[in-house]
Amino acid sequence: MSMYCLILAAGDGKRMKSKKPKVLLEVLSKPMLSWVCDACKKAGAENIAAVVGNGKEQVTEFLGTVGDIATFEQTERKGTGHAVMMAKEFIEKARSDKGDVLICCGDAPFIDEEVILSSYKFHKDNDNEVTVVSARVDDPFGYGRIIRDTAGGFLKITEQKDCTEEEKAVQEINSGIYWFKPDSLLLALSGLKNNNAAGEYYLTDTIEMCSKKGAYKASNSNVVLGANNRVQLASLNKIARDMIIERLQLSGVDIPISDGVMISPEAVIGADTTILPGTIIKGNTVIGEGCVIGPNSLLINCVIEDNVVLNNVQATDSKIDKGAKAGPFVHLRPGTHLHEGVKIGDFVEVKNSEIGKNTCIAHLTYIGDSDVGKGVNFGCGCVTANYDGVSKFRTTIGDNAFIGCNTNLIAPVNVGDNATTGAGSTITKDVPPNSLVVERSRTIVKENWEKNSRRIKKA
Ligand code: UD1
Ligand code: CA
Repeated sequence: MSMYCLILAAGDGKRMKSKKPKVLLEVLSKPMLSWVCDACKKAGAENIAAVVGNGKEQVTEFLGTVGDIATFEQTERKGTGHAVMMAKEFIEKARSDKGDVLICCGDAPFIDEEVILSSYKFHKDNDNEVTVVSARVDDPFGYGRIIRDTAGGFLKITEQKDCTEEEKAVQEINSGIYWFKPDSLLLALSGLKNNNAAGEYYLTDTIEMCSKKGAYKASNSNVVLGANNRVQLASLNKIARDMIIERLQLSGVDIPISDGVMISPEAVIGADTTILPGTIIKGNTVIGEGCVIGPNSLLINCVIEDNVVLNNVQATDSKIDKGAKAGPFVHLRPGTHLHEGVKIGDFVEVKNSEIGKNTCIAHLTYIGDSDVGKGVNFGCGCVTANYDGVSKFRTTIGDNAFIGCNTNLIAPVNVGDNATTGAGSTITKDVPPNSLVVERSRTIVKENWEKNSRRIKKA
């Protein structure tokens, strides 16, 4: 008994008016196709394949990042039934393996493990040739309708374009998720015609051709929602956003006002952390307990320990240890690691650097490609000059060093433990531990120089 999942992802998606293939458009910064692949994997599918066509290079490249997913090409878009025909080999493999075939759409991201497994059970328990996952929605416009006989028996699916007035009123719709016995699917596909309003080979027409069929009504009607245009895409984003915020709130995360808050479904956030308005958390970001994140922060694939405060911070691929504080207006670029208790103030950028415990970088500073020790203090306006126009070099600063205001550190360069650099110095040579380095001309004072000047007389 094994599950074969076939994801339809070849469609033109014309209604999106996008250069990107529709299935790669995003819900909460995650491509719709990625949501569907994850659901199939979580349900334990042994074999996953996708039908690709429009934008096949991009879609195939994306699938490569997901892992072991076979692709079948549909060179012309002749409908969902035609798309499935392209994967005949996959269905035959399912047949020889005595498996079952799940078909789902790459543009309906809320399919989940629960609906896949419970509909599978229904399919097996009833020994159906085909099981369609359906749901009741308030506005069925655009979806295929589940047509039942007077006794409630499931007869067929009628597409929007082919609906009679009476059928248009039906609110039970086809989710585009189906379980098939491979034999029945192959037989139905071989007899499929395109004599309908769209002139397409509808997968939905295979239903009528199977004798033993059932419609499994999903308990969560969101799982069936798809996006054919940007309005629907925005409403999927809203639903997903609310779903994730509610899940986090129930687990103890404080999101007092969710305006502008967007959190990826993969993010993990600890209890008693507060997320303030305008905060976007993307990818596999992990945040500990008791943090305050926001307002207006963007975190992409970061790992943040407990009791961190980030105010107006943009951080990517960075690690922030417990009790560190950054902001307002801080940019942490990939490879940044702020150790415990670090303080970063306004208009500071850090890239690919280790910043040691309790170090303080309070204002207007750039630290790139550097290894900074513990308890270092940077004055205002310091710069590590890490790039000579050709290559990048590292700067090393020892524990408890004091970097004076407006110091330029020309890498490669090392500043020893406890050393001090004078304000305004440009450091090009290594500085030994415990020393003071000053690199600037002496101050010259000429007394009474202005006394008879034209400027002062005019004043
Ligand atoms: C389809 C169903 C409809 C259902 C709805 C659920 C059919 C005929 N209709 O309509 O009953 O309520 O999904 O969301 O199946 N695709 C291809 N190749 C094609 C055409 C489509 O791969 O030639 C893919 C698309 O990329 C998409 C999926 O199949 O992922 C569904 O196609 P779409 O055109 O969006 O169908 P709907 O009109 O939404
Ligand atoms: Ca669709």
